Parts: sequence; structure tokens; C-alpha cells
Amino acid sequence: MGDFLWWRDGVIYQIYPRSFADSNGDGFGDLPGITSKLDYLAFLGIDGLWLSPIHPSPDKDFGYDVADHTAIDPRYGTMEDFDKLVAEAHKRGIRVILDMVLNHTSDQHPWFRESRSSRDNPKRDWYLWREKPNNWASVFGGSGWDYDEKTGRYYFHMFLKEQPDVNWRNPEVRKAQLNVFRFWLERGVDGFRLDVFNAYFKHPGFEDNPSKFGLRRFDQQVHVNDMDRPEMMPLLGELRSLLDSYPERYSVGEPFVSTPEKTASYAGAQKLHTAFFFFFDNTTGLIPKWNADHFRRQMLDLGKAAGNVYLPALAMSNHDIPRSASRYCRGEDDADAKIAMTLLMTMRGTPFIYYGEEIGMRDISLSRKEIMDPVGRYYWPIIKGRDGCRSPMQWDDSPNAGFSKGKPWLKLHPNYTARNVLAQEKDTDSMLSFTRRLIALRKEYGALRDGGILFLEPSQKDVLAYLRLSPQGTILVGLNFSSRARKLDLPPGDWQPLLSTSARDEKISDIIKLAPHEVCLMKSS
Ligand code: GLC
Repeated sequence: MGDFLWWRDGVIYQIYPRSFADSNGDGFGDLPGITSKLDYLAFLGIDGLWLSPIHPSPDKDFGYDVADHTAIDPRYGTMEDFDKLVAEAHKRGIRVILDMVLNHTSDQHPWFRESRSSRDNPKRDWYLWREKPNNWASVFGGSGWDYDEKTGRYYFHMFLKEQPDVNWRNPEVRKAQLNVFRFWLERGVDGFRLDVFNAYFKHPGFEDNPSKFGLRRFDQQVHVNDMDRPEMMPLLGELRSLLDSYPERYSVGEPFVSTPEKTASYAGAQKLHTAFFFFFDNTTGLIPKWNADHFRRQMLDLGKAAGNVYLPALAMSNHDIPRSASRYCRGEDDADAKIAMTLLMTMRGTPFIYYGEEIGMRDISLSRKEIMDPVGRYYWPIIKGRDGCRSPMQWDDSPNAGFSKGKPWLKLHPNYTARNVLAQEKDTDSMLSFTRRLIALRKEYGALRDGGILFLEPSQKDVLAYLRLSPQGTILVGLNFSSRARKLDLPPGDWQPLLSTSARDEKISDIIKLAPHEVCLMKSS
């Protein structure tokens, strides 16, 4: 553990703050609530927290429409509450990562209010104004351009019309945005998650995007002119130098509409520390892919693209997609959620756990009138929106799952009476105990953190098996995706089980018979 780097070798936990823990009974999670749960997070063994946005926001996109990047939304608490959270997290060896939404602002942000006030306002050029729209679309539906009556021009918004995109080409904007990072760095924040960073720069001549086949209007275009512009690279260099002028600070990008190669091109020296790899979740397909071959191919593609240049950020779940347990499990059975958690913790990359994933939380289902997310409201019933994966954390079986003394802002999953932290802490077979054990094994065995990865070629279908290799030792991960027993031939040597979902303690050689849905981690001895 001598060269342990928290952001590369650690495990990071994403909190959706309004749904984590409510300290004042208003039904809305807050910063003191998070602080009160730090002992739990330390018990889990995580190294960093990523907080989804905590800045003032009219909430058109649930916090991702920011009205002031250097303040705390009063619903979450005060700046003192924030400083206390950071100090208490640091005391426990936990780092704090903030979500920086800098591709766009809220339309209530003072910059946009000024910009839209008149055509000759000094901040007019801080956003993207045009006399006529081009073909660029909004991710959330329809054209990306909205007409502003007062000044008789259109402005561009890649997301909602209440989320105008800023003009990163304007040097004053660039300076102001970098100052936002400085502000939080000075307050002791350890890192940043960059929301849709690869869309910061648009084509200077606003050229149309070429067309392609797709479901939504946004998917019917090749996004060569509204994202992934080359001007991004010098900016990443500048940002990296800023981060590197403080000790151990970090950046992880959310590449939007990306490929493994594009994702890889944004990470490394003089670029971001890392970027998310999202391809497991198969958000573009309607049926989640759950088979050994899919994960093997995905990891091989990613490995090829990332090489040894950076360690990818891996996530199975987040606030934008259905939870992995909802995608892969039937009913309340956690066998496949344990396979998914093992993949997350043992493949080559830095794992990000989404709050509640460690207890196998499932998505809530909502009727049309309960839907709050603008994506669900627009695309219903084809796409039902993202509220499902944002329900309150399930702490115990008391009313409102111990999340709040008041009425929660979003309904709870009814399974909370059985599926909650308190119940799972006491159960050695629970998803929580299993996740804790995996995190502890990552800490104990360097091979699981920075070792190479070598996929085995099992003779039986539905088995995914790989070695994590380091000079200190080798770990073998065997996963049976099938509901039947499967054989796996082992590389030469004696293998000692470290963790299995089937009862095993004996050394094994030559061959192992994996039980249905079994996870088995072994070390060579
Ligand atoms: C990112 C966020 C998502 C948000 C969008 C616009 O994709 O993860 O929640 O709606 O950006 O900010």
C-alpha cells in the first residue's frame, strides 16, 4: 500500500445528496445528513465521495442547472456545513469530489440574466447566440435552439432550454470557469467530476451535424460539430496544471456520446486524470446485456484503448441510468448483483459505487404522473426518465427507511423494510457484507488495484474468468453467469479461495465446478 493513490487505487462512492440522509426533517437530504453517515462510509471502506451538485439550482434538471457555482444551495445547508463535511471526511481518510457542471448554467444564473438582457450587454457573448438555428438538437428533446423574444435571437442549449450552454471560446468565460475550480480547491476540495466536459467547445462556424439513423432526434446526428472539438485539449492541459499546483487533486470526466478510443484520448498526462467508461450499462439498447462475453469484450476494448496511459473510472450505476441490480437481477435475489459488484471491484479500473448499490437497492417504479425528471416527462412511455434510480437511501426499517423524519421528496422503494443497511450489517451473506469484503480484498491485494488483467478462455459457456497479475501474486476471478453449474479449468498451481458465494475453503487445483451464479476469487499459493 506504500504507493497507494486515493483517486487511482481507491474506491469512490457517489452520493446523490437529496436522497442520502436528511438531518432536518424537510424530506430533502442535506450536508449534515451526509456528515452523520461518514462513519458508515468509513466502515464500508471507501476512499472518496463524489457529491452530485450541491449548488443553488431552480432544479429544472435536479441540480444540474446551476445558478451559482460558488455557493451552497440552502436546502443542503450552509458553507459552514460544507467545510465541516470536508473536515470530518478528511479525518476519516475520505476525500471529497464535487460535480462541476460547466458546459451550461441555469437560465437563472446572473451571467445568463445579463447575457439575455440586451444584445450589447458585456456578457452577451458569454453564451451562444445566433440569428438562425442550425440543426443541433437537445438531448432532452427537440431543437437545441430557443428563441428569445426580447433580443430577437436564438440561444443554444444542449439540454433543457433552462440550461443555456456557455461560450467557452470567450476568454473571460474561460477565466471565470477556471476560477470556480480555484475557489473550491482553496476550500480543500480534493477533486472534480466534470459534467459533459467534451461538449464545452462547439464548431466556431456553427456547422450542421451530419445525419445518421437513431431513435431520438439527438441520436439522429453524428456529433462532430457540437462536441469533441480539438480546442478541448489545451483547456484540459491548463486545468491539469491548475490541479497539479495543489497536492493530490483529481479530475474525472463524463464523456458524453463517446467511444472507448475517444474516452481514452481525454485522459493521461496534461489531460484529465481519468474518464468514465460507461459501456457496460448498455443504455442505448432496450434490453441490458448480461452475459460473460459482453463484459469480456467490453473490457478488452477498453484495455486496448486505455493501454497503460490511465486507469479508467468504472461505474455500473449512477443517477442517469437504471441501477445495476434492477437491470440484472430478478426480484429480490442478489446473486447477479454480486457478480456485477465483483466485476466493478476486480476489473482493471477505479470503481465508483452509486449510493445504495452496496445493499443492492432497486429502482422504484413510477406512474406517469409521479415522474419528475424532464427526460421521462418528454419521452414517456419510450423512456421513463431517471427518477427510478434516485429514491432515498434505505438505512433501516423505521418509517421512511430512516432517511427522513418528514415526507421524502421522492418515494421510497417498498422493499426497504427488508432491504436496508441495518439488516444487512447483521447478515454475513448480505450484499453489504459481500461488498465490504470485496473492498477489503482490493486494499489487501495490489494485484486487484494495479495488476495486469488476463482473460482466460473457459471451455464452458457463461463463465467469465480472468487473472489479475502482479509481482506480489496472482488473483483469479471466476464468475458463473448461468443458472447451472459450470466447470472452469484453472491455470497450474494450487488456488486458495478468498471469497466465494458458495461454501469453499479448501485449496483447489486443475478444475473448479462453479455453482449457479457463483462468484469465486482465489489466490495462487
Ligand atoms: C450529465 C448529468 C445528467 C444531467 C446532464 C446535464 O449527463 O449526469 O444528470 O442531466 O449532464 O447537465
